[in-house]
Amino acid sequence: MRLVCESVGHKYGALDVLDGIGLTVADGECLAVVGPSGCGKSTLLGIMGGLVEPTAGRVFVEGAAPAGSLNPITYVFQDFALLPWRSVASNVALALEHHPLDAQVLAARVDDALARTGLREFRDAFPKQLSGGMRQRVGIARALAVAPAVLLMDEPLSALDAQTRELLMEDFLALWLAARTTSVYVTHNLHEALRLADRICVLSRRPGRIKQIVGVGVPQADRALPAAARAMAELAEQLWHAVRAEAVDAEREVADG
Ligand SMILES: Nc1ncnc2c1ncn2[C@@H]1O[C@H](COP(=O)(O)OP(=O)(O)OP(=O)(O)O)[C@@H](O)[C@H]1O
Ligand SMILES: [Mg+2]
Repeated sequence: MRLVCESVGHKYGALDVLDGIGLTVADGECLAVVGPSGCGKSTLLGIMGGLVEPTAGRVFVEGAAPAGSLNPITYVFQDFALLPWRSVASNVALALEHHPLDAQVLAARVDDALARTGLREFRDAFPKQLSGGMRQRVGIARALAVAPAVLLMDEPLSALDAQTRELLMEDFLALWLAARTTSVYVTHNLHEALRLADRICVLSRRPGRIKQIVGVGVPQADRALPAAARAMAELAEQLWHAVRAEAVDAEREVADG
């Protein structure tokens, strides 16, 4: 499925947060969204997911959902959003419980999602017994279990330490390459954006407008190869150039304010 934003704008009262966002996330594409703190990234994701009603423009999805998809749109949150009193398997099952599935199908979906995210041995553990990385695997497993048509991720790795982030990013990339779910990935981390995304949308400081869209021409599977190092370095330079000016302005604005 593709996701279309048409002239999306948002105001919280008098605060102008987003302005004139027009973009289409193609079927099977991963679009990263970067931009300075407070520029409206999470608001845009909320609008895409239908959690926030935009004050201007509209968002819609088009096309056929993938086989077995139970939800058009699913989130992965920065803070994992797990229920502490439920086991790992039960947290994953949560996403399925309001669908009319028979018990066997539900259990098979949970098992599959746990296997794909490396959580099989942790199925009976509780969130507090897990490391941050394992907790976010549960968040990802829960999203995968419903086979969403569109996956929305708001800084899913930013609460993790650098090594865990790197490991989880590589595992997530492998999962994404196998399923190619249409995805929007909000991050502050340009390295993550360049590793995962087909295109990277750079937002300006608030009110967030599309400043630039950087296409990453190198296929994800090749990006870590030595042969791609030069092309990736040039893209990183281009991206940093686009982000830097906005970040400087945004930081100054906070300091002055
Ligand atoms: N429910 C709300 N009511 C009022 N203002 C809000 C609300 N949610 C967010 N804001 C404000 O809107 C602006 C954009 O917030 P948003 O969370 O979308 O930005 P962001 O780009 O995700 O920021 P960050 O990089 O820090 O996650 C911020 O100034 C924020 O304080
Ligand atoms: Mg945010």
